[in-house]
Amino acid sequence: MHALINALPLQTLPVLRLLSHAEFFSGEAIARRLNCSRGTVHNAIRAAQEAGFRVHAVHGRGYRLAAPVSWLDADRLHHAFDQRGIRLQYFDQIASTNAQMLDWAARDAPERAPQRALVCAEWQSQGRGRRGRDWHADLGAGLMFSFLWRSTRPAAQLSGLSLAVGVALVEGLREFGLAGARVKWPNDIQLGGAKLAGVLIELASDKLASDVLAPSTAVIGVGINVSGGEALSQRVGQPVTDLSAHLSAHLGRVDRNELLLRLVTSLDTALTRFECDGFAAFHAAWHACHAHQSQPVCLQRGHGEAINGIALGVDAQGALQVETASGIETFHSGEVSLRAISP
Ligand code: BTN
Repeated sequence: MHALINALPLQTLPVLRLLSHAEFFSGEAIARRLNCSRGTVHNAIRAAQEAGFRVHAVHGRGYRLAAPVSWLDADRLHHAFDQRGIRLQYFDQIASTNAQMLDWAARDAPERAPQRALVCAEWQSQGRGRRGRDWHADLGAGLMFSFLWRSTRPAAQLSGLSLAVGVALVEGLREFGLAGARVKWPNDIQLGGAKLAGVLIELASDKLASDVLAPSTAVIGVGINVSGGEALSQRVGQPVTDLSAHLSAHLGRVDRNELLLRLVTSLDTALTRFECDGFAAFHAAWHACHAHQSQPVCLQRGHGEAINGIALGVDAQGALQVETASGIETFHSGEVSLRAISP
């Protein structure tokens, strides 16, 4: 397991971006290019290795990437998202893109506050997961972003939002060539029975929070495993997979910029539909890509009680319906966790 690191040295990403998979670069050559000392280069590489990044370091030759990496290209992304009317904040490293977006949404004066905005980062030191868990991705191995959505709908009318987001991500992934992506109730994306991506939606609390009819500001955080799924499986003790395992045979290296553009475009389109029609617009599509439709599942309540049954799908609010020994029961997200039972 890798060390817990709060921050990478500032030069880490600039140093890594200069490295290649094909040939060695000496510390001296890198230092010259970045106008810094060899010690700075050495520290940057060591910190990257501690954050789970694989670089070969050979005395007398220098440094070489263990595998090619598709770095996020901030200029390309700014240009592409500007054209779509989406404001972007890109960071080499950040504590959490969700925390950053919540802060951004709250800090700007109303007339300057972004409407549709995106925060993405190469690396998070304190990525947040659901149910108070953390979200970890080794440097260069994940795609992490948070999308800001301002809705005229009050919070009470957002039920099913996380399921609609799941459908949008599955559609985006399928366009990207990943035909087998499925939704796992309520917030995961699965591939071949293993977790590929997770969604964390956080609502910004504002001055009008006490008004139940006030419009909502939602931060939709998405984390996708692009590589390193096997190591993550061991770390979290549940089956985890990654995109490269399923795509690189057909497409070569996964272009994370292209992936981000596709997914955010799909999400943006879905949110416009959700604004008009709510979860009703996604109900059928959700069932069509439900990983456990008509399958045996086990639901675990917080205090340990386990309920077995057959997953029937979701109701109009996105609550899961399960046929159990005592009849059809309805479960809301947040109160149970779900796992499949092998037949
Ligand atoms: C889950 O527990 O499955 C949800 C994980 C969500 C992780 C993403 S990564 C980008 C965004 N920023 C965060 O801090 N968390 C979300």
